[in-house]
Amino acid sequence: MRKKIVAANWKMNLNLIEGADLINEIYKGLPELNESNEVVIAPPFLHIPQTVTQLANMEYVFPGAQNCHHEAAGAYTGEVSASMLNNAEVKYVIIGHSERRQYFGEDDAMLAKKTNQVLANNMQVIFCCGEPLEVREQGGQNDYVEAQLKAGLFHLSEAHIKNVVIAYEPIWAIGTGLTASSAQAQTMHQHIRAVVAEQYGAAVAAEITILYGGSCKPGNAAELFSCEDVDGGLIGGAALNADDFLAIVSAMINS
Ligand code: PGA
Repeated sequence: MRKKIVAANWKMNLNLIEGADLINEIYKGLPELNESNEVVIAPPFLHIPQTVTQLANMEYVFPGAQNCHHEAAGAYTGEVSASMLNNAEVKYVIIGHSERRQYFGEDDAMLAKKTNQVLANNMQVIFCCGEPLEVREQGGQNDYVEAQLKAGLFHLSEAHIKNVVIAYEPIWAIGTGLTASSAQAQTMHQHIRAVVAEQYGAAVAAEITILYGGSCKPGNAAELFSCEDVDGGLIGGAALNADDFLAIVSAMINS
């Protein structure tokens, strides 16, 4: 059975004290999780050792990172490698978030290398894809997302693709308060699963977790997660508030 996941992407928010407080609040209200209902928390790099310590006694809540460098090591001032993250006990790394693509010029070739680094270091990838508004307005979203998946992921072996979670995040919905309708999300998620099936076969596609991201919040999580091909969410703004985040986690468990 494929896993459901709710993953928090804190982005560049919260100092160390605020981060520790937020995890304490989440801990107090966390519903029971299991191997098919996981939570991931991806704080800024600086938080990671503290977050790992805090999550150590929370079952099925795993530390994540928001990025890593595409080379293994070397003279890349200011960067963090996948092997450092693995050594720090990170389990998931978000790759290809639209903010990384847009503000840091990360292209498909670089994202393919980053994906390789994460998998070579025994962590799992949360690979983000999603179209800008003008592409959706012209009806080109399916082709756009398919091209992102092919360029970033489809060089992987079957064994490796099993360690990838795909997150569909339409750019027009991220941080805007606009959410894809559940019908729009389901249509795209079904397309993503079909594209994975074409490359890797139906059995592999059936096991791939596909998250929705983009203004997912307590008021819309249950409806989004009730869609057949929506296996949870990648949560930005609403992950910075314990009550909101916990409500979204509960929506996943009850979906
Ligand atoms: P949002 O961000 O929930 O604030 O829209 C989601 C994301 O960018 O991962």
